[in-house]
Amino acid sequence: MAAYEYETHDYDVVVVGAGGAGLRATLGMAEQGLRTACVTKVFPTRSHTVAAQGGIAASLSNMGPDHWQWHMYDTVKGSDWLGDTDAMEYLAREAPKAVYELEHYGVPFSRTEEGKIYQRPFGGHTTEFGEGPPVQRTCAAADRTGHAILHTLYGQSLKNNAEFFIEYFAIDLIITDGACTGVVCWKLDDGTIHVFNAKMTVLATGGYGRAFFSATSAHTCTGDGGGMVARAGLPLQDMEFVQFHPTGIYGAGCLITEGVRGEGGYLTNSNGERFMERYAPHYKDLASRDVVSRCMTIEIREGRGVGPEKDHIFLNLSHLPPETLALRLPGISESARIFAGVDVTKEPIPVLPTVHYNMGGIPTNYWGEVLNPTAEAPDAVFPGLMAVGEAGCASVHGANRLGSNSLIDLVVFGRAAAIRAGQIVNPETAAPATNKASVDKALDRFDGLRHANGGTPTAELRLEMQKTMQSDAAVFRADKSLAEGVKKMDAVAAKVADLKVTDRSMVWNSDLMETLELTNLMPNALATIVAAEARKESRGAHAHEDYPNRDDVNWRKHSLAHVDGAKVTLDYRPVHLDPLTTEAEGGIALPRIAPKARVY
Ligand code: FUM
Repeated sequence: MAAYEYETHDYDVVVVGAGGAGLRATLGMAEQGLRTACVTKVFPTRSHTVAAQGGIAASLSNMGPDHWQWHMYDTVKGSDWLGDTDAMEYLAREAPKAVYELEHYGVPFSRTEEGKIYQRPFGGHTTEFGEGPPVQRTCAAADRTGHAILHTLYGQSLKNNAEFFIEYFAIDLIITDGACTGVVCWKLDDGTIHVFNAKMTVLATGGYGRAFFSATSAHTCTGDGGGMVARAGLPLQDMEFVQFHPTGIYGAGCLITEGVRGEGGYLTNSNGERFMERYAPHYKDLASRDVVSRCMTIEIREGRGVGPEKDHIFLNLSHLPPETLALRLPGISESARIFAGVDVTKEPIPVLPTVHYNMGGIPTNYWGEVLNPTAEAPDAVFPGLMAVGEAGCASVHGANRLGSNSLIDLVVFGRAAAIRAGQIVNPETAAPATNKASVDKALDRFDGLRHANGGTPTAELRLEMQKTMQSDAAVFRADKSLAEGVKKMDAVAAKVADLKVTDRSMVWNSDLMETLELTNLMPNALATIVAAEARKESRGAHAHEDYPNRDDVNWRKHSLAHVDGAKVTLDYRPVHLDPLTTEAEGGIALPRIAPKARVY
């Protein structure tokens, strides 16, 4: 057994991750007087939410008529009828409240002439239950909305006495008698080990975009929560649904916000044609993201891509007034110059669909409580554990997320987790005692990786995984490529046992940290490709060439993947069909959200 000394910390709540969801949960917990620790592997304001550009969706009606019911309808349709209806209703209803709270906390939103929060159009957000014109629902702080939110939430959390443990890497959950009782962490700058005992542990660790070769995600997006949950024997849900953002900069992968198209930008092919008019006659460039990414891919495949190799598409915005570019889109003007060498006032930006978001994650109810579903109890809660933000799957995004529904997901469900914790965490009782056996198990794994002495360097295996996922779990999928992908990923996962770590030190050891991250990426990637291979239909971001239609009879269900080493076992649970309120109570009528063809 590995002999590591550790320092123990007792809290009511420990939040792992300090992005938008983690900080909103931390703030909400601390505001209620719960002793709250936030453990994060990067400085809070460097969390990936900082990169969110275009905005946060809420039906404020600042720029024209809007209703939460319209927002809910768009989210249901955007999810391709895979989202849980109760969670989607909760999101759309609570969104305005959550945004006004942000405003009062101090988020510097852009303003209209009358001083209201400025809102822009975004793909898939409409009026009149998808029948009317696009709506301006996405509240923006220029094109740096995530940056503005993150800084505000960090300041507010400090003001409310939340305690931050910065540059601490979470190794594994502590599991005691079928409940989570905390987390074991490694402090990166001095090599010490820390055990956080807590009545509630909240995973807010973000997505796993870095399982792919080209992603808008930061290098820190390594699915650490999903990895820990899988090792605890809990399932991951709907992992086959991976979103490709239509406009990553060609070659570099950095995000160019959908807000560009919201402000009037448009896509063209090598004929100079605005091709989205052909595919989505009503909403054109503001169709849902999965639709736009597929259309771009078809254009390229059919020989109408741009550039010497005809392998990308142009995003045009030089026709926009210079004051719009300066006021509303200053960040992307800079990114285009730095990463594509393009002056957006004169030239189009070369773009390509790029991995951007994981709809799947750790299954939760709409309070953020982690589920451990069984056939008899599909909504059974795993005590002591919550998951919020991209790490979690509530599920509001189903098979495809609408742009700007991510930031609102972070704050609505971060806030919901805090509300729920306020109900079930008793600040008067002692924190759980340290479960030495569970801590030792985590440290044994840590030590094993620290001394890994095989023949495969971490960077080599990570690249192999990323290339496999990029080519075989792509925008379009097919039986053959998915089966090949599963086989290749089996071989990749088997090589984890052969990893080679060269640096054995405990202090600032990036080799070991990247190895721990790789062991988190791996179960996420395996679950993704295996669940994708199994799903014999097309729905949202899962576009299957051999099964081009959605199959609601057989496949309107959530996938659950248990990952044990390299072995993935699949199961399914039903979608929640009932909304929280009836039409008579002001809610949405059930027939209104019944599945139908998804056209834009
Ligand atoms: O395009 C964007 O600004 C991205 C927004 C989102 O993913 O929600």
